[in-house]
Amino acid sequence: MELLDFDVVVLGSGIAGLGAAIHASRSSKESLSVALVSKLHVMRSHSVAAEGGISGVLYPESNKDSKDLHAYDTIKGSDYLADQDAVEVLVEKAPEEIKFLDHIGVPWNRLDNGHISQRPFGGMSIPRTAFAADKTGFFMMRSLYDELLSLKNVEIFNEHFATSLIRDGNEVHGFVAFDMATRNVKAFRSKSLIIATGGASRVFSFTTNSYSNTGDGTAMAFRAGIPLKDMEFVQFHPTALIPSGILITEAARGEGGYLRNANGDRFMERYAKSKMELAPRDIVSRSIMTEIKEGRGMRDKESGLDYVYLDLRHLDSKKIDEKLPMIKEITIKMLNIDPSKLPIPIRPAAHFTMGGIHTDIKGHVMRSSREIMNGVWAAGECACVSVHGANRLGSNSLSQCSVWGRITGMEAAQNAKRVRRTSAKFERMAEQEEMRIIGLAEGKGSQSPYEIRDALYNVMDEHLYVYRNMKGMKLAQKRISSLRKRMKDVYVKDKGNVYNTNLRETFEIANLLDLAWVITEGAIRRHESRGAHVVAEYPKRDDKNWLKHTIAMKSIGGVRFEYVPVKMEGWQPEERKY
Ligand code: FUM
Repeated sequence: MELLDFDVVVLGSGIAGLGAAIHASRSSKESLSVALVSKLHVMRSHSVAAEGGISGVLYPESNKDSKDLHAYDTIKGSDYLADQDAVEVLVEKAPEEIKFLDHIGVPWNRLDNGHISQRPFGGMSIPRTAFAADKTGFFMMRSLYDELLSLKNVEIFNEHFATSLIRDGNEVHGFVAFDMATRNVKAFRSKSLIIATGGASRVFSFTTNSYSNTGDGTAMAFRAGIPLKDMEFVQFHPTALIPSGILITEAARGEGGYLRNANGDRFMERYAKSKMELAPRDIVSRSIMTEIKEGRGMRDKESGLDYVYLDLRHLDSKKIDEKLPMIKEITIKMLNIDPSKLPIPIRPAAHFTMGGIHTDIKGHVMRSSREIMNGVWAAGECACVSVHGANRLGSNSLSQCSVWGRITGMEAAQNAKRVRRTSAKFERMAEQEEMRIIGLAEGKGSQSPYEIRDALYNVMDEHLYVYRNMKGMKLAQKRISSLRKRMKDVYVKDKGNVYNTNLRETFEIANLLDLAWVITEGAIRRHESRGAHVVAEYPKRDDKNWLKHTIAMKSIGGVRFEYVPVKMEGWQPEERKY
């Protein structure tokens, strides 16, 4: 086993991870040693798939926008579960991030006066989503990656899969990973670790997420005894292409697209009269599923998936070419549908993990509901600093990733300059993890990881989707528990050392199972409907009993739950009407 020492290690290479590495490096004037470790090549990170844009108040004097209004929209969109102090940080810092991205080369769409163009997005009162056509994530990643490559003190480890954090008491000292190219095990020892491993929507099979979004950092944190927050809140994006689940950006509706049912009706009129197709995602997804349940959807014979239409035929085809070119390319390549001529078949798909690793407002990872864990931060989708609460507004995630990428990078650098930490147990714990990796790679077992994964997909798609009920979730609880038992006897068929994706996927499936477990247990306990968590038996939001965050912690043989209050700064819960 190779032992590698760094001041700051960033695990994960999406927008939050790249931002964290850049700002850790820059804020130390390139004096600290920084490592960026990714299970992929950096430019294959799922952030490249972000399409519609990034939110932030840029021109309040010309469009009457304000940070206060952005905060209000976000808090109302969150169904009042967002921590209001964290939302204030988001709206305060997001404009600076858009300008920073401008300076490092993101080719924003612009107006004739040179201003960065901003488009409408769901639940936002004013067009405040900056964009680069419908490839915003790709262009942000490209610019951040170029910036990172220019820094002298950052070493990049592509295609290294992390399996376990090394925690000694109240401190995290790094993690163990194996190199995909060789299966050589490496222990990364850090003074400061930033986890930025993205979301976990791959617990569902119908998802907009790439195969890599298996929540690895979140699951590792959970197994290390770190609390997870609000995991029951999973966002279903209303418009994913049938049957693949590829994201059809909300910007298609922002640019004027309609949703229509089998009768050709713009059904959003019945559910959100004032916002129509630009209501927040939880509401639009439920509206689509209600139309389908009440018989006004259509069915794809091959996949058996029900759907409704996203209709762009009335848009100027020049507008589609300029602002939604990738959507056009995708629908033509995947379904031979030119969106100027034919409507697009879509349905809601798992898209975003609102919950995640419990952090404080600076992204510092917590070790209990209220105490900090030394040496570790989390940023981006894997973290729950709680700006999205029970339902995220579209385009607030790229701002969250950018804002807390910077904050955690700077905090981690500060910490690394200050501390001299050692753990006598580090090497022994890393060696134990190496033995576990070898044991799984070389061992025998009777269970196929892929059969377990497919069974998990069925459970989650059936029982934890847009509409939930207690009977279904309890069935899911039982099935997940039996899948977790089967996982203990899993086997890796490929016995090779070079790019053994079978081995990596087996670890990933174990991560998905752990997170599905936490999602389901948390969902069963939350006896109300709020944001993306809607339960038939408890159809109303219940602020008296449930205006609080779920904290889930691993305990011997199970998960232990605690609840902590939402941080309020003056925005009082009101009925969510659009
Ligand atoms: O629809 C989209 O372009 C997705 C944006 C987001 O999730 O923020």
